[in-house]
Amino acid sequence: MAIQAPEGTRDLLPDEALFWTRFKDTAAEVFGRYGYVLVETPVIEQTELFVRGIGEATDVVSKEMFTAVSGENLKRLLDGGAIKAKSRLSLRPEGTAGVVRAVVQHDLVPQGAAPAKLMYAGPMFRAERPQKGRQRQFNQVGVECLGAEAPSIDAEAIIMLMRFFEKVGIPASSMELLVNSMGCEKCRPAYRDLVRAYMDEHADELCETCMTRAAVNPLRAFDCKNEQCAAVMAGAPKITDHLCDDCREHYAAVRELLDGAGVPYVEEPKLVRGLDYYTRTVFEVQVVDGLGSQNAIGGGGRYDKLAEEVGGRPTPGLGFALGYERCLMALEAAGVELPRAQRCDLFVACVDDSVRASAFGLVQACRDAGIVCEMDHQGRSLKSQFKLADKLGAARVAVLGPDELAEGACTLRDMAAHEEARVKLADVPEEMHRVFL
Ligand code: HAM
Repeated sequence: MAIQAPEGTRDLLPDEALFWTRFKDTAAEVFGRYGYVLVETPVIEQTELFVRGIGEATDVVSKEMFTAVSGENLKRLLDGGAIKAKSRLSLRPEGTAGVVRAVVQHDLVPQGAAPAKLMYAGPMFRAERPQKGRQRQFNQVGVECLGAEAPSIDAEAIIMLMRFFEKVGIPASSMELLVNSMGCEKCRPAYRDLVRAYMDEHADELCETCMTRAAVNPLRAFDCKNEQCAAVMAGAPKITDHLCDDCREHYAAVRELLDGAGVPYVEEPKLVRGLDYYTRTVFEVQVVDGLGSQNAIGGGGRYDKLAEEVGGRPTPGLGFALGYERCLMALEAAGVELPRAQRCDLFVACVDDSVRASAFGLVQACRDAGIVCEMDHQGRSLKSQFKLADKLGAARVAVLGPDELAEGACTLRDMAAHEEARVKLADVPEEMHRVFL
């Protein structure tokens, strides 16, 4: 059997690959208006970065990382030896930890400086069980703002995210924005204890996974897909009733700014997100129909302690990432058509082989003049060449035969209007420009 792409990966075929480029360009344009600029960090990082940054007990780190070992180290491991901690590498499961590492390493936010507003786009890797909307390699576009604590940073990022989704064509009516506050190191520990106590009271109604997690991170139980667990956790204490004054004020200010901007949202006190670094604001955009259980097209939040976790000075941060493939699915569900990658303005058809060299010259001249132009390279009959031109979506076909060539001309056919005219070969680029450009 022919070799297939690995499970959980997906080829972006030409239309999707073209749209990926446009998607990134649109993100750079929209986010650029808010001051975000592009960075590129490596696809591999020290495993330790994700362990410290995302959290050892998270699913992403404890069971979904792809670990990479370089040739020499692989041999060492296979021979039963040990490798240094810094040689233990993992494919990035997300972009935030790497960007924060880069900010710390290059001191991009010196004390007193304006915040660093960074965006990135590229593949992420999680060894999850593949299902609809859940891949092992997927593409994200994300932003991170380091060095600012103000709620206006949270609000502008959320507004920017919603503007982007609308700009790429996801209808506002098909999306729901959920917001919550996760509190901070002052108020969250006490809240976590409350949830743990609540879970202990309901231990016999909760699944084993939730109860094992209860000791380390009881808040994970809010994410459990088991229906009974969800019903039990619906009655658990709500974080928003247990925020400290600073967190409560911060959260209220974020919502006030969203209200002022007319951005609709739903407060969801059970929204905890799957990564351990979050503090205060968290948010997620879910698509109402068509994506099944993997319906989050983007999400993010504040992470005021992450820079310290990875060895930097205290630097507040906030960001989000959105999944390209899930956005594609959302667009498909909304009936939005992707632009076609293959375009052909002009097809040059040869009546016989004697004109092939002249046709080749005409094709080059048109391409040099900026026209998307194609010809047959497989000796097709004239009829088949027209079929090919049609398949490529050519708007015009230039027919070149010995008679035309004797006059230094071709017959230029308008495929939609079924009209044709003799045009001098030298005038074809200009005629095409007159009609198309
Ligand atoms: P996340 O919620 O894990 O957050 O991922 C962001 C988005 O990536 C999701 O909403 C989803 O669209 C897409 N995504 C995640 N996992 C998969 C998968 N297995 N297959 C397909 N798409 C997927 C983060 O990654 C954080 N780094 C976001 C962030 C940035 N928080 C602060 N700054």
